Amino acid sequence: MENKTILSGMRPTGKLHLGHWVGALSNWTRLQEKYHCYFMVADWHALMSEYKDSSSIKEFAIDNVADWLSCGIDPNKSNIFIQSQVPEHLELSMILSVMVPLGWLLRCPTFKDQVKQLKDKEVNTYAFLGYPVLQSADILLYKADTVPVGEDQLPHLELCREIVRKFHLITKTEVFIEPQPLLTNIPRFLGIDGRKMSKSYKNDIALDEDDKNLEIKVLAMFTDPQRKRRNDPGRPQICNVFSSYLIFKEEFKDEVHDWCIKAKKGCRDCKKMLYEIIKDFIAPIREKKEELLKDKNYIKDILEEGRKKAKNTAIQTIKETREALKL
Ligand code: TRP
Ligand code: SF4
Repeated sequence: MENKTILSGMRPTGKLHLGHWVGALSNWTRLQEKYHCYFMVADWHALMSEYKDSSSIKEFAIDNVADWLSCGIDPNKSNIFIQSQVPEHLELSMILSVMVPLGWLLRCPTFKDQVKQLKDKEVNTYAFLGYPVLQSADILLYKADTVPVGEDQLPHLELCREIVRKFHLITKTEVFIEPQPLLTNIPRFLGIDGRKMSKSYKNDIALDEDDKNLEIKVLAMFTDPQRKRRNDPGRPQICNVFSSYLIFKEEFKDEVHDWCIKAKKGCRDCKKMLYEIIKDFIAPIREKKEELLKDKNYIKDILEEGRKKAKNTAIQTIKETREALKL
């Protein structure tokens, strides 16, 4: 066990899909073998965009945690908890916010993007502007030195590091640790239409997708648009079906590459085989999840354990933070 602390989180705004497994969960399960890990359900972050209809946040929180566990996140190795059950996140967020200039937040590309993209959700709010401040509090509360995130989150990590430096400069203390982002280097797994996989684009494959829908979705996957006829050679390097083989069945990559560039097989056959592969990948996850959701108390007990442990660390950091500010 190396003496490193990892923290990462997901917003419970929907069901998880294969993109979450590729981009985060596969990485988390590996990290928990080596490091001290906190995995958090960021329900307050979810509330910032879902406040008009917040009724499903709680349900998605449990559903997402069931997916984490089914994918191999082990509560004996990782600390799993729900953000809003540890109110110290808000306390630290407020404290940090006093020294964050508005310009840092207004300039944040994610803020500008989301306000434009989530028009009907009206996220041009005070809380949403402070999204990265709360995220910084999440990380700093546990003195995490490493934060596995997607590329889109890099500006938030940089902001967090700036907040740490400013806090230390002002208080002449060294309470916090400047966290480093950890980017996954797994090939990107796009949605079936070739855009980023996202529930809001309706191009996702759920982690517990049933076989019938899975088949429909895999067969609908976007491929090399130049490969119009069966005899046209394809370009695997730009085909999402090919990158899916790299992710889910690496040992087939040479074979698939070969039949693609030489037009030995059609895209439909290529996708049919991929369907079988993903089906076998999903089946045990879906079964385990069904089993887990039969007894919600088991999940609730895990979250209660996680809450207690998180709380202990959080209280300590808040104490140091207040002392640093002579409060
Ligand atoms: N903002 C992250 C996302 O949308 C979720 C998140 C909240 C997070 N708090 C965090 C990620 C702390 C890493 C660390 O993906
Ligand atoms: Fe993509 Fe397979 Fe078609 Fe090649 S044969 S373009 S890898 S789906």
